Amino acid sequence: MATLIVNGTLVTASESFRADLRIDGEKISHIGHDLRREPTDTIVDATGLLVMPGGIDAHTHLDLPVGATRASDDFESGTRAAAFGGTTSVIDFVSPARGDSLLGALDTWQALARGKACIDYGLHMSLVDERPETFAELDAVLDAGIPTFKIYTAYPDTLMISDGAILRLLNWSARRGALVLAHAENGGAIAELTRTLANEGKLAPRHHADSRPAILEGEATSRLIALAEVVDAPLYIVHVTCIEALEAIRSAQRRGIDIYAETCPHYLFLSEESLRAPDFEGAKFVCSPPLRPRNHAQKLWQALALGDIEVVATDHCPFNFHGQKDLGRDDFRKIPNGLPGIETRLTLLWQGVVEKRITPNRFVDIVATAPARIHGLCPRKGVLAPGTDADIVLWDPEREVRLDAARLHMRVDYSPYEGMTVRGGPAKVFSRGECVVDGDEFLGKPGRGQFLRRAPTQ
Ligand code: URP
Ligand code: ZN
Ligand code: ZN
Repeated sequence: MATLIVNGTLVTASESFRADLRIDGEKISHIGHDLRREPTDTIVDATGLLVMPGGIDAHTHLDLPVGATRASDDFESGTRAAAFGGTTSVIDFVSPARGDSLLGALDTWQALARGKACIDYGLHMSLVDERPETFAELDAVLDAGIPTFKIYTAYPDTLMISDGAILRLLNWSARRGALVLAHAENGGAIAELTRTLANEGKLAPRHHADSRPAILEGEATSRLIALAEVVDAPLYIVHVTCIEALEAIRSAQRRGIDIYAETCPHYLFLSEESLRAPDFEGAKFVCSPPLRPRNHAQKLWQALALGDIEVVATDHCPFNFHGQKDLGRDDFRKIPNGLPGIETRLTLLWQGVVEKRITPNRFVDIVATAPARIHGLCPRKGVLAPGTDADIVLWDPEREVRLDAARLHMRVDYSPYEGMTVRGGPAKVFSRGECVVDGDEFLGKPGRGQFLRRAPTQ
């Protein structure tokens, strides 16, 4: 049984062209003009549609425990919503607590995903303590198919590690071909600013942003780049939000240093004004780093167009407004940090094509090809070519998508984009050759998603 997609326009990171595409089993087998039709073939007419590689979301937090609560999407609801949005692979973060074994935490995350993931998933490993036992496990984690390691320069009480430990990890990663992913904020300074705000009684959601100014994200980004430069290691900065961080990244890239940058849709479409919404609704927009003033988004779009930022991922970390975000009703320090976005990434970024900020080819690069290359999924994922996994989106540039929570599939009781309608969305989504989404219908099964064992990336 094969599937033949006909009459569509193939869009890759480098070109757009009319061709048929044949799927045999789980793989793309042929791309060409007027491919031969067998009587048993399923023919999919893609007239008016764009045929693109499925999206790869390189930054998600499904079922993440945070304090006494958990991110509201688990691997089943989250990956199902991802597929509805045209994403066919996610890379989630194994997030051990301090003192936990990395391999033990990996088992925990595999158990969260097993039997649930509807699309393929990879895992990053977070490193949140500096014990020799933790560093001793790095080689085994790499051998388990995890070549990407996240560190934090924020959250001193739970996640942050010292500059010395970061240097040790970067040094190891340079030798082993692994890649360090960094959350760049200045945890110590944020703690001090937070204490001052609290003493002044400034505990509303908007003060969360006051405690985490852009200049400190810029400082941490520069510091991390300096550490990477010392040991000649590549570095990937996650969720870049601001001009200050961009300047540090650009200056390093100009010096020929291997720095990759990622941003997220909420930093492109929302601003800190949302944190001022009345009736505590600003809490819906609390994430770290925080939303910035509007002028930063303009610069992030330019950086995406120029290739200074390579990847848009979601940092999907949803919490319901009722029962979760409202844990911090009287105190922003208690609001769980994070926004939903796993389903709306492609459709939001497509607005960059509609508004002519980026080309369709650049769009494909940002949402699929670059994340596959940087995170070690190439050549299996992220491209349209014979022999690669048939993870394919048939994209309808005319489809209207309403971004209301009631219309979306993420398990969360609000949408940061409530009331917004955009143009462009998936008509059909294939994951390893299987049509998992057809219009508004989900055809996939929980547990069909496979773990993506990744090799060293560099
Ligand atoms: O607010 C956020 N981003 N929560 C998720 C964890 C992280 O730092 O990426
Ligand atoms: Zn982070
Ligand atoms: Zn994150």
